[in-house]
Amino acid sequence: MLQDIEEVLFTERQIAVMVERIGKEITADYRGKNLLLVSVLKGSVVFMADLMRAIEIPARIDFMATSSYGSGTKTSGVVKILKDLDINLEGYDIVLVEDILDSGKTLSYLIELIQARNPSSVRICTLFDKPERREVEVQATYAGAVIPDAFIVGYGLDYDEKYRNLPFVGVLKPEIYQ
Ligand code: IMP
Ligand code: MG
Repeated sequence: MLQDIEEVLFTERQIAVMVERIGKEITADYRGKNLLLVSVLKGSVVFMADLMRAIEIPARIDFMATSSYGSGTKTSGVVKILKDLDINLEGYDIVLVEDILDSGKTLSYLIELIQARNPSSVRICTLFDKPERREVEVQATYAGAVIPDAFIVGYGLDYDEKYRNLPFVGVLKPEIYQ
């Protein structure tokens, strides 16, 4: 697995610092609110697991799953819901937790879907943001780091379902997906 990584972009320690910072921001912003963290499977599970423990106010959690890239590195633009939320969203302040905001197609679709269910509020929290690749206008309120246009893996992020269990985030060698 390690021989497929071109360079380490964020070490475990650097990721931990980002997650702590976001946890503090959410803690401050959602005190007295009805926080529901919604993790978009599977890429955000590692981030979600760490982020929820960095939040010091009560928080509920739930999970959604959308169709993935398959074995390519670009989104098809067609978002399919593979697993929906289990609860009625009315009265909840939702933070959508994503691994990476790329073209924006997935999150713009999910935001609309969630908004239509009348939650009290909904915001986006993404660990990584690749603004250069944006095709649909989407803004993340909380972001760990802005990254250049490279395909990254690790800390939940995959290529063809592999590398999710790397504890750091690295750039995948292009010859792996070319
Ligand atoms: P979007 O709809 O193009 O914004 O795609 C978001 C999804 O694409 C993320 O949740 C990831 O699953 C996947 N993705 C985008 N860029 C990367 C990357 O660099 N590495 C791994 N997955 C990525
Ligand atoms: Mg993926």
